[in-house]
Amino acid sequence: MRIISNSYIKTKLKRLQQIESYTIGESTETLARRLGLLPAEIVKLNFNENLFLPKKNLAEIIKLVADECDLRIYPQEEQNKLKESISNQLKVPFDSIVVGNASDELIDRISRLFLEKGEIAVSITPTFPVFKYCAKRQGANYLTIPLLDDFQLNIKQLLASFSNKTSLLYLCSPNNPTGNQFNKTEIETLINKFPGIVMLDEAYAEYAEYSLVSKVNDFENLIILRTFSKAFGLAALRLGYALTNSTLTNILTEKSPLPFPVSSFTLNMGQKLLENFSIVSKSVEELKMEREKLIKKLNQINGIKAFNSQANFVLFAADKPYELVYQALLNKGLLIKKIGKISHLDNCLRTTVGLPWMNEKLIETLKKIFR
Ligand SMILES: Cc1ncc(COP(=O)(O)O)c(C=O)c1O
Repeated sequence: MRIISNSYIKTKLKRLQQIESYTIGESTETLARRLGLLPAEIVKLNFNENLFLPKKNLAEIIKLVADECDLRIYPQEEQNKLKESISNQLKVPFDSIVVGNASDELIDRISRLFLEKGEIAVSITPTFPVFKYCAKRQGANYLTIPLLDDFQLNIKQLLASFSNKTSLLYLCSPNNPTGNQFNKTEIETLINKFPGIVMLDEAYAEYAEYSLVSKVNDFENLIILRTFSKAFGLAALRLGYALTNSTLTNILTEKSPLPFPVSSFTLNMGQKLLENFSIVSKSVEELKMEREKLIKKLNQINGIKAFNSQANFVLFAADKPYELVYQALLNKGLLIKKIGKISHLDNCLRTTVGLPWMNEKLIETLKKIFR
C-alpha cells in the first residue's frame, strides 16, 4: 500500500475515524455461528421489527409490484402516488409530505440542512442514538436533557436550554428506548418556544395513543417523521416520510442531497401496503394485545420491573447486571437490546414484542435466570 505522507489527508482521516457512528452489530447468521446454533434458532427481538405482519402477505404484494414496476425508468410518478395514499390515509395535505429512504436518511437530511458547525442540537436522554451521530457529524454540539424519573420530559430544563444557538431539537415520541409517549401539551409548548426546527420522530405512532400529524401546518418549525419499517413491516426496504408545512417541504425536497433517494419498487410497495391497510392494522392490534400480556408476565418475575409501552417494544429494569441477563438470554438464542443505566435504574434492557411463542420463550428463560 502507498504510504500517505500528506498531513492534510492524515488529519482528515483521523477526524473521520474519530466520528462516532451507529453500530448495527452482528447479523443473526454470524451470531448463530458464534453460538453454535442454527440461524432459525435465534429469536431476534433487538430491532423492533414487526413480526406480526405475515411474510406471506408481503410476498403477495411483492408479486403485484414486480409486475407493475418498470425498473429501467427512474422513479418519478411512483412518489406522487405514494404521497396521495399517505395524504388520504392521514388526512394531511399532499404538499406536506416528503418521502425518504426511511427515517434514518431523513434524520440525516434534516441534520445536514438545519445544523451547522458550532450550533447546538438539543435532545433528551435516553433516546434514539442516530440523532447524536447525525448532529455530531455536522460538527454541532449535542446537548441532552435527561428525562424525569417517570420518563416524561423535563420541560423546565429543556426550555432553559434554548438559545439563539440552538437550531435543532430532536424529539422522539413514543420514545425509544423508554416506550412512552410524551405529554402532548408539553411537546406543543416546546415546539412553540424552540427558536429553530423541531424534528419529532413518530416511528412508533401506529402503536401509540395519539399523533401530532394533524398539527403539521399549525407550526412554522415542526417536522414529523414516520416510517414503513415498524408497523408496516418494511424495514428491509427502507422507506419513510416527513410531514411538515409547505415551505419546509420544498426545502427538504429540493435541497435533498440525492435526486432519487427511494427506488420505484419501494415506493410502490409502500403505496400497495397502504391500499391494504387492514393487514397492517390487524398486526398492530395483535401486537398491542401481546404487549400487555408480555408486560404483565415480565412484572410477575421477581427482580424485573417492566414499564408500560406505547410502542412495539418493552423496556424493563433488572435487579441483576444487565450484561449478565443479556448474555444468559443470548446463550439460549434470545437476542434483545442492552440499554444499561437510565436515571436511577442501573440495569435496563429492551425487548421487541415478539410473536406469542417468542415471548413465551423469553419469559420462561427469564424465569430461570431470575430463579
Ligand atoms: C425512534 C426511531 N427512529 C427511527 C428509527 C429508524 O427507522 P428507519 O428504519 O425508518 O430508518 C428507529 C429504528 O429503530 C427508531 O427506533
